[in-house]
Amino acid sequence: MAAGAPAERALPAAPGGASEPGAAGGDAAATPVAAGARGAAAEGPAPDDPLDAVAAQAAACRRCRLCETRQSVVFGEGPRRPRLMVIGEAPGAEEDASGRPFIGAAGQLLTRMLLAIGLAREDVYIANVVKCRPPGNRDPGPDEVAACRPYLDEQIRLLDPELLLLLGAPALKTVLQTTRGITAMRGQVLRTPDGRPALPTFHPSYVLRYPEARRAVWDDLRLAAATLGLTVPPRPA
Ligand code: URA
Repeated sequence: MAAGAPAERALPAAPGGASEPGAAGGDAAATPVAAGARGAAAEGPAPDDPLDAVAAQAAACRRCRLCETRQSVVFGEGPRRPRLMVIGEAPGAEEDASGRPFIGAAGQLLTRMLLAIGLAREDVYIANVVKCRPPGNRDPGPDEVAACRPYLDEQIRLLDPELLLLLGAPALKTVLQTTRGITAMRGQVLRTPDGRPALPTFHPSYVLRYPEARRAVWDDLRLAAATLGLTVPPRPA
């Protein structure tokens, strides 16, 4: 975590003139949470921990229309100094109901993927580009991604992971600021605009739908392991 980071740090305003987080809705006391929060509002003293402070702002967020249909703000979860940060797309139904990222079928596959390179899920920070579920699991809109982006940027800055694992096209495009597709970009350690190593790979939901993508993901995981200096598992036959 960045030394000397202020406990309370205003997020940059959302592009397009959206209102500040915490400006609308809610009358409950602030609920700083690591994983998710149901409609909590940012009132009362700000949490001391800077990441908790960002989570509390997100918990009260009304920057885009997803706040109207969400049950939870799925902020993210994991250790405060993770070596690896995984970034997916957006919460699905189970994540929305529970407030935790990646706990459905895609999450179970993600857990197995991480174990394959010797990482327990608890050792990794897991978050999404968009913190609230798009209704019907539609793709998040560009305005929703832009509105949520300051939360992700702050998570990355405060967690300061050695490597970002970008799951699928929305994470690739948002974090690496590219219009190129996941098939072209996966399988290489690239750099974010501020120089952080990032490895794009296919989203576990895609792998569940197209099992032939497993081999590529396996290669990408081996590259992640090598980048982190972990034991690289052999390629399965
Ligand atoms: N897919 C995602 O991208 N994120 C989740 O949290 C769950 C499924």
